[in-house]
Amino acid sequence: MKGIILAGGSGTRLNPLTRVTSKQLLPIYDKPMIYYPLQTLLTAGITDILIIVAPDHAGDFLKLLGSGKEFGCKFTYEIQDKPEGLAQAFLIGENFIGDDNVTLVLGDNIFAQEFGEEIKSFKSGGRVFAKQVPDSFRFGVVEFDENQKALSIEEKPEHPKSDYAVTGLYIYDNSVVAKAKSLTPSARGEIEITDINNLYLKEGTLDVAFVKGEWFDTGTFESLHSAIEFARKRALV
Ligand code: TTP
Repeated sequence: MKGIILAGGSGTRLNPLTRVTSKQLLPIYDKPMIYYPLQTLLTAGITDILIIVAPDHAGDFLKLLGSGKEFGCKFTYEIQDKPEGLAQAFLIGENFIGDDNVTLVLGDNIFAQEFGEEIKSFKSGGRVFAKQVPDSFRFGVVEFDENQKALSIEEKPEHPKSDYAVTGLYIYDNSVVAKAKSLTPSARGEIEITDINNLYLKEGTLDVAFVKGEWFDTGTFESLHSAIEFARKRALV
């Protein structure tokens, strides 16, 4: 299993915090944000990790994280020229992924849960993790039937069919690269990971599990603040 941390994007909602630095380098209490998704991969036993960054901040990530030796792993770096969607990670990462399966984590997502079991037990298809949230319209939203079987996933719907958001950790088999290649950009000009999930769903190979414990997507001031509070409490116990 290879790992990818997607840490590009523009972070416009956190302006002016993100005017001169990258969102994923901002402090979450006592560590830069990207340490948390990195920890998620490391605790799951993933040690071969591609870090995808925006051109403006590539040097800062390299300075912060280096070769990976300090963390007991190996880092590869790639630049995403423009933020053209989460699913672009699998096009940029094609050579890195090679013939392996891959776990993608978003550089601004913080999970209390460890995913060792979920990643070790993964064989094929796709596995994503949903979480009940009050503002699901900001995310990919899963519609379930009465047996909690996923029926559809909609990206940032105006009228969400549930309050279950797809969170920023995605486990895929190697067919994800071909699936990403088959996509066309959405109306907002992005290659959507929701489209990838729907391809797996159509094949009947998407496992929608549930996040255990807290989860933060730190893209807004409110969620950034909550994540810092969470990290502070955890560091102090
Ligand atoms: P978003 O929070 O959706 O986008 P953003 O970080 O650009 O922020 P804003 O909407 O405020 O402008 O992105 C989620 C994560 O994915 C975040 O860690 C940035 C990353 N990302 C990329 O690396 N490349 C991309 O093309 C996109 C869309 C996001």
